[in-house]
Amino acid sequence: MGKIILITGASTGIGAETAVELAKGNTIIIHYNASEKPAQETAKKVEEKGGKAALVQADLRTEAGCRKVVDFVAKNYGKLDVLVNNAGGLIQRMKVGEIQWERMAEIFALNSFSAILMTSLSVPLLEKGENPCVVNLTSIAIRHGAPTATVYAASKGAVDVFTRGAAKELAPKIRVNAVAPGVIETPFHDKVSNPQMLQSWRENTPLKKNGQAHHIATAIKFLIENDFVTGETIDVNGGLYMR
Ligand SMILES: NC(=O)c1ccc[n+]([C@@H]2O[C@H](COP(=O)([O-])OP(=O)(O)OC[C@H]3O[C@@H](n4cnc5c(N)ncnc54)[C@H](OP(=O)(O)O)[C@@H]3O)[C@@H](O)[C@H]2O)c1
Repeated sequence: MGKIILITGASTGIGAETAVELAKGNTIIIHYNASEKPAQETAKKVEEKGGKAALVQADLRTEAGCRKVVDFVAKNYGKLDVLVNNAGGLIQRMKVGEIQWERMAEIFALNSFSAILMTSLSVPLLEKGENPCVVNLTSIAIRHGAPTATVYAASKGAVDVFTRGAAKELAPKIRVNAVAPGVIETPFHDKVSNPQMLQSWRENTPLKKNGQAHHIATAIKFLIENDFVTGETIDVNGGLYMR
């Protein structure tokens, strides 16, 4: 029987690619916020790959938005096999000496609070799932200093810590893992990185390229399929950071 898979932020980039990667034989619940048309395109691609697609809109910077998405899953499916907490973004670059409370709150709401609350609300549904798991998206930024992206890095660091705690607490039934992408060429960078930055990351990466969304989608698939991995964060970054 196919899996019920919820992917947050599946309208573009890594989430959209993951939806297509996981589509075959499964039901993919495509969450989006502002990008309705791209979300509909993701749904079309999922169906072309032999999956079933459903769309749900919500702003995950709010508790109400998180509850709306989980209520949609509960009402329509009554269970969940996989939750991919992918929605996120850098929002705005700022220096450590120029941090504004409102922006910091927004960055943490989008990247940390949403992933944490979505996981919490999904527990009863995941308990009814088969080989159920959560995959969180963190970032290479959690591994080393990320000047002008320090607040974002800290918000992803919170998710990294949450991943291990939740993995221990929710074992043995529910696995919780994370992927920490390096620089991936998606709409993520449209407003917060310029072509010179993308080129310098390319040059500084041992594999001499930035990543594409499929590099992360395949790592997410591995974490969903392998039922002996929990509490792990997989780095997928072309060697830009090695532990
Ligand atoms: N690309 C990279 O280099 C990179 C590196 C490290 C980590 N990551 C992480 O990977 C994840 C996916 O990013 P991406 O590269 O695929 O970027 P992306 O193409 O910009 O996708 C971001 C997704 O998050 C959703 N989102 C943004 N604001 C939202 C809000 N307020 N409420 C609900 N959803 C919202 C977007 O939905 P709408 O467009 O529909 O609003 C979109 O589907 C993020 O968590 C990001 O932090 C990316």
